[in-house]
Amino acid sequence: MISELSRHVGETVTLKGWLYHWRKGGKIWFLVLRDGSGYLQAVVSKADVPEAVWEAATGATQESTLEVSGIVKADPRSPGGVELGVADVKILDLCHDWPITPKEHGVDFLMSQRHLWLRSSRQVAVLKVRSEIESAIHDFFYARGYTRLDSPILTPAACEGTSSLFETQYTEDEKAYLSQSGQLYLEPAAAALGRVYCFGPTFRAEKSKTRRHLREFWMVEPEVAFLEIDGLMDLAEEFVKELTARVLDRRKEDLKRLERDVAKLEPVAAKRFPRISYREAVEMLQKKNMPVKFGDDLGGDEETALTEGFDTPIMVTRYPSSIKAFYMQPDAKDPDVALCLDMLAPEGYGEIIGGSQRIHDHDLLLSRIRQHDLPLEAFQWYLDVRKYGTFPHSGFGMGLERFVAWMCGVPHLRECIPYPRMLYRIYP
Ligand code: 4AD
Ligand code: MG
Repeated sequence: MISELSRHVGETVTLKGWLYHWRKGGKIWFLVLRDGSGYLQAVVSKADVPEAVWEAATGATQESTLEVSGIVKADPRSPGGVELGVADVKILDLCHDWPITPKEHGVDFLMSQRHLWLRSSRQVAVLKVRSEIESAIHDFFYARGYTRLDSPILTPAACEGTSSLFETQYTEDEKAYLSQSGQLYLEPAAAALGRVYCFGPTFRAEKSKTRRHLREFWMVEPEVAFLEIDGLMDLAEEFVKELTARVLDRRKEDLKRLERDVAKLEPVAAKRFPRISYREAVEMLQKKNMPVKFGDDLGGDEETALTEGFDTPIMVTRYPSSIKAFYMQPDAKDPDVALCLDMLAPEGYGEIIGGSQRIHDHDLLLSRIRQHDLPLEAFQWYLDVRKYGTFPHSGFGMGLERFVAWMCGVPHLRECIPYPRMLYRIYP
């Protein structure tokens, strides 16, 4: 692998990969080879190689599959610290008419070529950051004694409102819905295992095209027995700090390739996140002349306005119960609001985390299910958690692609998942 070459300076190696680009210098050609692990400048000198090798090197086209042999040389100026003095080049497959040229392509075109676009250095960098975050998520919870619990994808009922449900036929006379969140299944598991989390794909039949919404996205959700709202805020903050520090520490090269201004991320790992209530948020927005009143949901514009002037995420808590999910615990001191939190990322990235303390009183939950017109039969098992040894508990969900987008400084979620599923796009 190219990424391992710095340990082989002075040795002769053979590598397989693809030609990414090249520079001609008369009798010397510089081929840049990529193999997924990194990029390698391979220097071919006409005087030092047989005619056939020179022809292969100069005849290779972008994305041709190559096998290259030569001596690894230290080169402090190149990203991996080495370059290759080429002795042999074999074209394993000559690539014809590679469709993604250096000219500007429209996003629709690139999306239709997503399977090929993945090879570009920017996309590779985003996917590496994403993978790093996935590992960091598991490490975070493992280190804190959580048990990973996989929630089902096919479910009999809605979790986050019925307007964004994907329906499928389960049996001839029974319907099923693709999961919008694993939360409801984590709550019983928190009574079994104490601290649990799930991490998997979730589905929302979003009807609008925005840069922050996918129809299939990955969500990580912890759920913790005996944790209440203040502890939940601490957990969410610690989580985001640790993931950010990990990305800054281990994906420097990728962030550089993405031209991410890391100075914007450094405060996140270091400073305490401000916590404000929804009521305070409404006042702040009114002072900014935005026409918001108690009871209104906060959209993307409001979220961006709220985070202006902060260099870390902020946590907005205690939204009106009327605009939040049925399972959220009301605040005993202010019964119109729920003990919930939204974490809003700076630089306009908006809501990255949503969570709450859950209602643990059986009768209150029952009345909420009725109020929201949810099918009681489908929630009987969920009510059971409150019937047999009930306990206060809390959890949150973080959308992986929203977090990746923010870390990478990529404005649109479609580049933060390998194969995005959006309104009007399910190919490839
Ligand atoms: O705020 P949401 O809807 O919360 C829940 O689903 C809770 N059941 C989670 C829990 O408490 N266990 O979604 C959580 C997060 C959002 O903050 C956002 O990051 C992401 O999921 N998200 C989306 N990401 C991409 N595309 C969409 N359509 C998303 N909808 C939500
Ligand atoms: Mg939310």
